[in-house]
Amino acid sequence: MTQGFYAQRLSHPGAVLAPMAGYSDAPMRQLAAEQGARWTVSEMISARGLVLGNEGPDLNLGRPYSGETQRVVQLFGAEPDILAEGARRALSWFGAAAIDLNMGCPVPKVKGRGGACLLQTPELACTLIGAMRAAVDVDVSAKIRLGWDSMRAVEVAQGLEAAGAALITVHGRTSAQRYNGEADWDAIAQVAASVQIPVVGSGDVKTLDTLRQRQRSGVAAVMVGRGAVGNPWLFAQAAGLRAETDVPNDFERAAAALRHVALNTEWYGERRGLIQMRKVLPQYFPHHPQWRESLVSLDTLEDVQHTLERLLASSGTPPVTHTPAPSFATRYDQVRS
Ligand SMILES: Cc1cc2nc3c(=O)[nH]c(=O)nc-3n(C[C@H](O)[C@H](O)[C@H](O)COP(=O)(O)O)c2cc1C
Repeated sequence: MTQGFYAQRLSHPGAVLAPMAGYSDAPMRQLAAEQGARWTVSEMISARGLVLGNEGPDLNLGRPYSGETQRVVQLFGAEPDILAEGARRALSWFGAAAIDLNMGCPVPKVKGRGGACLLQTPELACTLIGAMRAAVDVDVSAKIRLGWDSMRAVEVAQGLEAAGAALITVHGRTSAQRYNGEADWDAIAQVAASVQIPVVGSGDVKTLDTLRQRQRSGVAAVMVGRGAVGNPWLFAQAAGLRAETDVPNDFERAAAALRHVALNTEWYGERRGLIQMRKVLPQYFPHHPQWRESLVSLDTLEDVQHTLERLLASSGTPPVTHTPAPSFATRYDQVRS
């Protein structure tokens, strides 16, 4: 039997980029993959939309960037036939390396149609996994929370394993908690110890120290979401491709931010691409909160360049590269061309 995608990627070191609606789009996935992410996960995609909507292979949420390979497509839904067909389409249209079932989204949009609601009906979740498995010949996985409003993840994970899930990701909060409180990594470890399949842990990993600590908690891999926004270097450090002490300076941050802008405008077009970047740009400069206001209101590529130049000048950053990143000007030329 050939080794599945997850088993193959788990033989490499590093961290996993979390699915994040509004963030883990093609540009962010590309930056994470270039820095050595073990794999990346798409934003959640409605299986109904793929099967019954007008969507096709050109759907931005699903379509891969040129050359993308290690990308899992996440689907949400609650109907076995729809998820089976959705999985087939995610595979043929988007070239998914594996298909993940969303069992963690608490937002109203998903209520009654899957997401974290499935934690209340684990038997339905198992039927969904079985239907998806029968439909595609790639790994099928699920991403769960600890439970709806109390810890139920061990029972849910064991059921999903029996249904044929190749891997389970656990976000260490209940659905009722949404994003409040701290992720419970003891509970994640409990789930990891209760099943044979690999368990990936998710929640509140923002620094390399925390990442290393969580890697020792019995999970097969650690997933990073919010902590990776504006910080793709975390993946390189986690994978051992960059020294842990090699903290990016402002110049490198500006070059990476510009590259993100370039990928975004290429993917979405200039106007939408820049609007999408407003929430991301300040995250590249967390230690310059005084620039936040300017960074969230940029309208044109010229604005981006001038603001970053002023930011660099104000921080007295010399134009040096201690990494192979092209120069700031070269990056800007790429954005412009
Ligand atoms: C803005 C945002 C969007 C998210 N979208 C998804 C999603 O589409 N699918 C999913 O399974 N989890 C989603 N999550 C949850 C994350 O994948 C992750 O489990 C959670 O944020 C905890 O990890 P973190 O502290 O590293 O961000 C989202 C989280 C955020 C903050």
